[in-house]
Amino acid sequence: MMQSAPVLLAAPAPEAVDVGVWDILLWGALPYIVLAIVIGGTIWRYKYDQFGWTTRSSQLYESRILRIASPLFHFGILAVLVGHLVGLVIPRSWTDAAGLSEHAYHIMALGIGLVAGFGTLVGIVMLIYRRRTTGPVFMATTKNDKFMYVMLVAALLTGLGVTIISVFDTTPVDYRQTVSPWFRSIWILQPDVQAMAASGIGFQTHALFGMALFAIWPFTRLVHAFTAPVHYLFRPYIVYRSRDSKDTAGMVPIRRGWEPIGTQDRARGSTRSRTR
Ligand code: HEM
Repeated sequence: MMQSAPVLLAAPAPEAVDVGVWDILLWGALPYIVLAIVIGGTIWRYKYDQFGWTTRSSQLYESRILRIASPLFHFGILAVLVGHLVGLVIPRSWTDAAGLSEHAYHIMALGIGLVAGFGTLVGIVMLIYRRRTTGPVFMATTKNDKFMYVMLVAALLTGLGVTIISVFDTTPVDYRQTVSPWFRSIWILQPDVQAMAASGIGFQTHALFGMALFAIWPFTRLVHAFTAPVHYLFRPYIVYRSRDSKDTAGMVPIRRGWEPIGTQDRARGSTRSRTR
């Protein structure tokens, strides 16, 4: 088998590309290794580190920059996620059937994708700046955090990079014929290695950083994203363990403004106040 030549911009049609050993390892085996790490790692973290299942919020130390940077990053990354789901999951034949021309699709994807991607990047740069320049926040930053930031920024930069290159390239790689079919093929356990091998070094680097980020996800602060987001918005900033109602029944009245919120305690708390 011949090793496929790295392609930066214009890629040949998938069926014209030879598949090498590295292609099989990276696009045929690695996605399943990453999936196993994400699932196994999340179960492990949930079982052994539930009290560490937190963002380790630093809002108490600094909130001026955080107030702008955090929503910018979080809304940006949510939009990037939705864009990826549409671009990678929905086949071109479906958007064609819906009457959306390829040109219109790409203009839309480019516009929304670039705004979301840049918003996320500006947000994360502000968050890293804050982390570096606010003493207590810097002190609370671990090596694990730093490595996660490198992977996150690398995924963002390579994603924005391939997208911008595609604007100026006269014969751009069509990710809907290469990356997207590969992505979908993973879930039906028939990885289309050839499609990804034809996507070029730009998309390949981006997918590798994406997979690296997913692989470290359960072992970092990013794990908070797996918590039901609606519940997360209303949980206390700092996770306290409330006293057992059996020990305190009738002894410690719950003062107004100190009721437990947004946790299972909420239900317990309201039952207690009602029975009192
Ligand atoms: C294996 C996982 C991933 C695959 C297969 C993938 C694939 C793609 C593809 C095909 C594009 C081009 C979209 C276009 O030109 O419209 C893209 C763009 C982009 N990707 Fe990814 N990606 C992955 C993971 C990630 C992750 C984890 C992040 C961020 C943390 C990310 C951030 C971006 C950004 C910022 C862009 C620029 C356009 C946009 O905002 O959607 N990607 N990605």
